[in-house]
Amino acid sequence: MRERHYTFLDKLCLGIDQAIRVLQNTAKNNGKVYPASQIPEAEMSEKERQHVAGLMRVNHTGEICAQALYHGQGVISRSREVQQKMQLAAIEEGDHLVWCKQRLDELDSHTSYLNPLWYTGSFCIGMVAGMVGDAWSLGFVAETERQVIKHLSHHLASLPHHDLRSGEVLKQMQMDEAHHRDEAIQLGAKDLPAWIKMTMGVMSKVMVKTAYWV
Ligand SMILES: [Fe+2]
Ligand SMILES: [Fe+2]
Repeated sequence: MRERHYTFLDKLCLGIDQAIRVLQNTAKNNGKVYPASQIPEAEMSEKERQHVAGLMRVNHTGEICAQALYHGQGVISRSREVQQKMQLAAIEEGDHLVWCKQRLDELDSHTSYLNPLWYTGSFCIGMVAGMVGDAWSLGFVAETERQVIKHLSHHLASLPHHDLRSGEVLKQMQMDEAHHRDEAIQLGAKDLPAWIKMTMGVMSKVMVKTAYWV
């Protein structure tokens, strides 16, 4: 069977469709089982519940950014292999998006109101990363995953110790992100210059601080 050739316009339309799906929490995913499905809900004070909801909102926004980064790179990346890899990675990340949203619903809280903004910004960054070449683009993925893993460790330490449901979700996400990082390295990711890593770190701090509250 002949492989279909997608024009830039086709990809852009696909990109818009993906963005709408992500922002409506209907992104493509693998339908993996919710990691906390067998764990009973903990008794939490109102203050604890709000704190956990803030952390889960940050993680949900982080996953929105991951979707946008992968989609942006998938649109522009030069090699077909990397393009496909990015689209598959976005689908895998789709499960994380579903889990974070589910946890937020369980905590009777909301996703960040600024998600459309974060999606747009991250999509543009993804496109730029995709333009500079596949090895850099993969380097960008590896670094993003490294930073996400670090955040997840902080969040795991900051959760009320009896909130095992949130803990289970974050632990599974952390394992998956490590897998994504290793895959990007195996595909030939380049180590990014220190100033780019630092800029990424600053941006993610701004996201973390705002998404916790709004
Ligand atoms: Fe993720
Ligand atoms: Fe990931």
